[in-house]
Amino acid sequence: MVRKLIGQTDFCLILTLLPLLQGSTDLDPPDDSVFKEARNNGLEILDPGEVVYIETRTNGVVEKGVILECGSVFPDVYIWGFTKPGTQNIRAVAYNFGKGPKLQNLAKTLGELTIIKNSASISIAKLPLAAEGLYTCQALYDTPQGAKLIYYYIHLSVLVPVTRPYIVLSDSSPSEGRYMWMRCGLENGTGPVYYTWEHTSPYNITGIMAQGISSVVNITDVNRNHTGWYRCLARNQVNQASSDRTWLDIIFGPDLPNIQVTPYSVTERGYSALEKETVTLLCQASSNPPSQYVWFYNNSQVYMGPTYTITRILRMHTGHYACLAQNTYLNTRSKKTITLTVYYPPDGGPSCTIQPTNNYTDLSLSCVWEGGQPYASLHWSPFVNRQSYRTATFIQTGPVTGNNSVFECHGSHVALKDSRSCSTRTWHPPGEPQCYAYATRNHEYLMFSCSWEGGYPRALLWWSSNTGETHGKSEENSNILILRSSATYSGKSFVCHAQHPLFAERKQCVLKLEAPVLVTQRSRVSVYEGSDVQLTCILKANYPATEITWYNNLKQHVIESPTKYVLQQAAAWSNLTVKETDGLTDSGQYWCSATNAVGGTEIPIELLVKRYPMPPNVTITKIMYSSRQQMEVDMEWVLWTVGDMTSFIIERRRVLQDKADTDPLWQRVVANLDPGTRSYKMGGFDPTGRYEVRIMAVNHRTIGHPSDAKSPAMPGFNAFPAVIGAAIGGMIIAAILTLLIFIYIVRNRNNNPRLHDLIFGIRNSQSRENINFPEDESTAGTEDSREDISPEPAMSIPRPSVAPPGQPPGQPPANDDEPVAVTVTVMATS
Ligand SMILES: *[C@@H]1O[C@H](CO)[C@@H](O)[C@H](O)[C@H]1NC(C)=O
Ligand SMILES: *[C@@H]1O[C@H](CO)[C@@H](O)[C@H](O)[C@H]1NC(C)=O
Ligand SMILES: *[C@@H]1O[C@H](CO)[C@@H](O)[C@H](O)[C@H]1NC(C)=O
Ligand SMILES: *[C@@H]1O[C@H](CO)[C@@H](O)[C@H](O)[C@H]1NC(C)=O
Ligand SMILES: *[C@@H]1O[C@H](CO)[C@@H](O)[C@H](O)[C@H]1NC(C)=O
Ligand SMILES: *[C@@H]1O[C@H](CO)[C@@H](O)[C@H](O)[C@H]1NC(C)=O
Ligand SMILES: *[C@@H]1O[C@H](CO)[C@@H](O)[C@H](O)[C@H]1NC(C)=O
Ligand SMILES: *[C@@H]1O[C@H](CO)[C@@H](O)[C@H](O)[C@H]1NC(C)=O
Ligand SMILES: *[C@@H]1O[C@H](CO)[C@@H](O)[C@H](O)[C@H]1NC(C)=O
Repeated sequence: MVRKLIGQTDFCLILTLLPLLQGSTDLDPPDDSVFKEARNNGLEILDPGEVVYIETRTNGVVEKGVILECGSVFPDVYIWGFTKPGTQNIRAVAYNFGKGPKLQNLAKTLGELTIIKNSASISIAKLPLAAEGLYTCQALYDTPQGAKLIYYYIHLSVLVPVTRPYIVLSDSSPSEGRYMWMRCGLENGTGPVYYTWEHTSPYNITGIMAQGISSVVNITDVNRNHTGWYRCLARNQVNQASSDRTWLDIIFGPDLPNIQVTPYSVTERGYSALEKETVTLLCQASSNPPSQYVWFYNNSQVYMGPTYTITRILRMHTGHYACLAQNTYLNTRSKKTITLTVYYPPDGGPSCTIQPTNNYTDLSLSCVWEGGQPYASLHWSPFVNRQSYRTATFIQTGPVTGNNSVFECHGSHVALKDSRSCSTRTWHPPGEPQCYAYATRNHEYLMFSCSWEGGYPRALLWWSSNTGETHGKSEENSNILILRSSATYSGKSFVCHAQHPLFAERKQCVLKLEAPVLVTQRSRVSVYEGSDVQLTCILKANYPATEITWYNNLKQHVIESPTKYVLQQAAAWSNLTVKETDGLTDSGQYWCSATNAVGGTEIPIELLVKRYPMPPNVTITKIMYSSRQQMEVDMEWVLWTVGDMTSFIIERRRVLQDKADTDPLWQRVVANLDPGTRSYKMGGFDPTGRYEVRIMAVNHRTIGHPSDAKSPAMPGFNAFPAVIGAAIGGMIIAAILTLLIFIYIVRNRNNNPRLHDLIFGIRNSQSRENINFPEDESTAGTEDSREDISPEPAMSIPRPSVAPPGQPPGQPPANDDEPVAVTVTVMATS
């Protein structure tokens, strides 16, 4: 009904009256805000005849004062009533019927209640909570228009300010992930209360965490960011208050540890450190309460604490390092493992080599430096751009590389201050490849040797035949090819090829194999017995080189009789000297032979040892004891025939009485008697014995017929005349004979020049060297038909196959020449 009133006709009236109402107010209201509210709600409607109802609301604060107005115009009569909330009964509090205000007992329960002077308003100081309720003021105005009644309804609310709030935590140290709540506890305070939660992080960052009318904050998933100071603010219509700060500790961790390695060096395989450095490993893992740390190396515990320091780390300390962080409160742990590699340099320095490559046309420069962690880095200078690890290889074109070219390889390593280097040089092999062939013992195998040494890198050598077919394998520096000997190789060539990377052109060395060819200047040699004779053989073509072997007339190797045969050898010839030739044994066919791995040959040389002619017969002209003691004998003799002779031999023997016994042997008394001697005195006779004596002329080795044996005569025995007579007779006959021979020789001088020479002035010594040279042997043919020797030098034809050694070559010579006796027989009678 009141609202209807306001809403309709009188609304403009109220507005017009408002300024008047404000101007008339001279009271100092206890609470400005409450007073204003009351005035704003106040309406005064003057409408005579009708009761007016005015309803307002006002707030008071407990223990504070409040004024409740009953219109702005002092009424003539008024009654204040109070209705307790929740009841219907209106009880009088005060009234004034014109004779001053009267308070009822009830007013004592409503705080210090007084009626403001000259007004109908109630002032309550120190509002108690019990003062809350509906206050009704019935005011009666006596106006000229008549009495007017206004009912004022005033609802008084007694508000309680918020007290200092406090924080209640469901858990003051929850662990991360849990649920918790926080409540802002408040003892008194009239609602609605508005709460604000303020959070200050451990880093002093403050912010509003939550706000609203709920005193509880739910955190379903607590995390470490919730750690910090909390304060809650409570605010209502009266005031606001804030709590003390409360610390919330969130338990968490440990997180995955973070490991810091000092000095810091990371590779794709983890951390690295240089040997002998001091390395510090620091482990950090967020945790509340703080982590406890344990360090492991390769799964065995090595240290406790966050910082693990290794002084002078060694290569054996390479491995896995693990940090274990533990939260002892939560009994949780976390672990992180890193790999730490300790770098150390390789030993020594790099080593450089050059190898041929691309079939010995190019050079492969190779540099190697093994060991170390990691591998050393290498590069060849002058090829700086190419860098590699552990081994560095570079291909250099061969022929453009000069002799004595230097290549250097530099190696560096992270753990070494200075780089190390090695160098190598190329060398031309000097000269040309050298080759030769030789045969093994017994010529079973042929060996071809080829060498071209001194180059760097080494040259490659291989063998081929002249047909181009390759034999054996390729070898460096030197190459020996071994083939089974065969006559088919005779006349063939073998080529040693040589390739060296520094030379564009190949080199070669050629060997031509040839079976031996023997020649001799004289294939027939004649000599007088007793002298030495030399047989010569010359080796012409011959490769591989071999030696000449000699066989004597009995097909024996001459080496077996070193006193009889003397050999003089040179590369191309061989002279065999037959010492003191004997007319009976040394004549015959001799052989000189040569065999190499590709063939063999031999040629015969015929030796003729001539005997000297028979010396003349001798006749003893006188033989007689020089005294009767019969100890010495004088003897004289004469030569009955003419002929060469060099000395005399005298022999004697005892004559036995008994004819039945055979005569004892002749004993030589003297030899080498000068050929001019014609008498001799000899001693040593046994006076009791009977002796025979004989004498022979000697021509070099040829001993003449012995004279008749004669026994010495006793001196004084008168045999002189007979002997002398015989001697004179013999001399006469000799003289006649000599004359006859001279005539014969002079007449037949052309037919028999040798005899002519013998007698007419050829010296004895000349006959000793009377060797059958083709150039000086002009008359030999006439002396003996068998001496008709061909003067041409002989030459052998090589045998097609290799002759087994030690076997005398060829067939024995058919004409076994006897020594030639040059004998002139002159018949003479005596
Ligand atoms: C809260 O109100 C009660 C009852 O009105 C009172 O007894 C108490 O003292 C008040 N507390 C505070 C802190 O004002
Ligand atoms: C936080 O701020 C207060 C005052 O503003 C200061 O006293 C205190 O030292 C600061 N604490 C930190 C950890 O910064
Ligand atoms: C907090 O949780 C309690 C109990 O689960 C619930 O009754 C309350 O409404 C929640 N408060 C807020 C602000 O979510
Ligand atoms: C804690 O705060 C930091 C910084 O504001 C943020 O990066 C991080 O994600 C927060 N942690 C959690 C669990 O919310
Ligand atoms: C540790 O482990 C690493 C890697 O497996 C290994 O190379 C190293 O030799 C180990 N060290 C020891 C002392 O066992
Ligand atoms: C290497 O050289 C030899 C001789 O010239 C030849 O026979 C051979 O085929 C070559 N090899 C290569 C791979 O060129
Ligand atoms: C290569 O050079 C060295 C040194 O300069 C020299 O002694 C040698 O004779 C040279 N060799 C050739 C084959 O030129
Ligand atoms: C070997 O004989 C030849 C020919 O008879 C001769 O020229 C050469 O001088 C002789 N050699 C020796 C060392 O006697
Ligand atoms: C020499 O003597 C021998 C034997 O006594 C005899 O046969 C020979 O005819 C003699 N010679 C001469 C030339 O008288």
